[in-house]
Parts: sequence; C-alpha cells; structure tokens
Amino acid sequence: EELGLPTSRYKFASTFEEFKAAVEEIGLPCVIKPIMSSSGHGQSVARKPEDIERSWHISQEGGRAGAGRVIVEGFVDFDYEITLLTVRSCSGTTYCEPVGHIQVDGDYRYSWQPQPMTSNALNRAREIARKITDALGGYGIFGVELFIKGDDVIFSEVSPRPHDTGMVTMISQDLSEFGLHARALLGLPVPAIRFYGPSASRAIVVEGDTDKVEFENLEQVLAEPGVQIRIFGKPEVKGHRRMGVILATDESVEAARAKAERAYNALKVNVLPR
Ligand SMILES: Nc1ncnc2c1ncn2[C@@H]1O[C@H](COP(=O)(O)OP(=O)(O)O)[C@@H](O)[C@H]1O
Ligand SMILES: [Mg+2]
Repeated sequence: EELGLPTSRYKFASTFEEFKAAVEEIGLPCVIKPIMSSSGHGQSVARKPEDIERSWHISQEGGRAGAGRVIVEGFVDFDYEITLLTVRSCSGTTYCEPVGHIQVDGDYRYSWQPQPMTSNALNRAREIARKITDALGGYGIFGVELFIKGDDVIFSEVSPRPHDTGMVTMISQDLSEFGLHARALLGLPVPAIRFYGPSASRAIVVEGDTDKVEFENLEQVLAEPGVQIRIFGKPEVKGHRRMGVILATDESVEAARAKAERAYNALKVNVLPR
C-alpha cells in the first residue's frame, strides 16, 4: 500500500461473518489463505458459492499458527509466475535470472531458470523487486514473487530469505541462493553472479503417515550427466511433505525440465509403516 505496487484486490477477515463479507466484496473466483502459513497449507480457491464455507474450514485447519485471520485475494489469471531472487549486499542490488515455477495446490512442484520474458515485463519485475527490497532494507536475498500477464507485472509476495522455487540455483549458478544470502548478510561483497545455463528443479513430495521414508534406485536417478538430488532428512511425513529435490541442467529450459522429470520418474520412494 505504501509503495503503490500493483496487487490483486484483497481483504482481511478474522471471523466467518467478516470472511463472507470479504468474499462478497472481492468476488469469485478468489483465493483464501491463512495469514500465517507456508507451502500452500490452508490455502484454497473458491470458484462457486458452494465453495465458500469449505474454503473457510480449510483455512482454519491448515495454517501454521492455528485458526484465525485470513486474506481473501481476487484470483489473478496470469500467463505465468516468477520468483525474482534479489540480492541486497554491500555491492548494491543484483538480480538472479528469473525463476519460473508451477504450483499445485499452492505448493511448488517445478521450477526453472531462466523464465523467458519480454524485456518490458523483466524491467517492470526488476523495478517492483527493487522498490520492495529497498523499502524492507537490510542485506540478504529476497524471493520476490510476481504474476505476469503480457507486459503487466503484479506483485504477489516476498520472502526475506532464500525461496523454495530458488533451489534451482543450487545447480544453475556459481553461488546458490543460500550462498548469496550468507555472503550478503555477512557484509561480504557480491560483485557478480555467474549463471551457468538453463536448469530445472523438481520437488520430491511424499504422501503418507510415516517416520520411515526410503529413497531407492539412485543409480538410475543419477545416470544422466547434469543431474543432482538433495534429500532434506526431514524426520516424518503427516499428509504430504516436500522431502527432497531433483536438479538438472541442459541446453534449454525444456530439456532441463524433461531431464529432471526423467530422474524423478526413476526415483523409488518407499513409505514404511511407523
Ligand atoms: N491471488 C492469486 N491469484 C492466482 N493465484 C494465486 C493467488 N495467490 C496465490 N496464488 C497461487 O498460489 C501459490 C501460492 O500462494 P502464495 O501466496 O505464494 O503462498 P505461499 O506463502 O504458500 O507461497 C502462488 O504461487 C500462485 O500460484
Ligand atoms: Mg509463495
């Protein structure tokens, strides 16, 4: 609001009554999110009047801080969405190549770099990222999430830290988003970021109720050149949880995405009983 950034229409609500009024005002379809959440937990889209009550219940059960306040956002019919990783360091502000991504139920599944963009859209995206990160201040990496429609860029949200979709930088750059964050916040210079070339990531999402997950067939997963896997070592899964990521690099974004998908399909995940 202070910076006048273009966003979806939105309204906050704390009770079911306020929520219904907010949906009425914003209109359908709209996106409902608990204000404290992550990875899409508690988030839903209401498309028809029958969805409204269901969306309220989802928001009250899925958030990170328990039941409470939600934001109701007008649904943005974007062409594609990006994360513009923006680094503020003693060297000034620098941007990574734009990260394109696909979310399923508000949870990231695929990301790639660079997302092809018109120069107008890219300039606009950098302008917005610059405004919001300058206003927040401090050193470190920010994940500026933007929706793109034609040459229009709409601000969605910002993480004051590395971003899940930015894990692709673990294979695409000389300094990953984590390395950049550490460098910047330690007060060290970030004179340049070397981008190696088209790359992709594929999240490994495991479903079930278990504290024993096994990953098998890594010989096949890692058989092609330019493929890596990271397993996060999270202790358990209840419902669904992102447990690792596959990274791939190739001649083009399409080839990198296809390679990451081949590696993912070769991975065997065993969910054992507790
Ligand atoms: N207003 C909206 N219109 C259309 N899609 C949206 C909207 N808000 C969120 N989304 C979709 O849901 C995803 C997750 O929403 P986001 O607010 O980024 O939640 P999180 O904090 O879990 O990342 C977005 O990346 C986008 O794909
Ligand atoms: Mg997000």
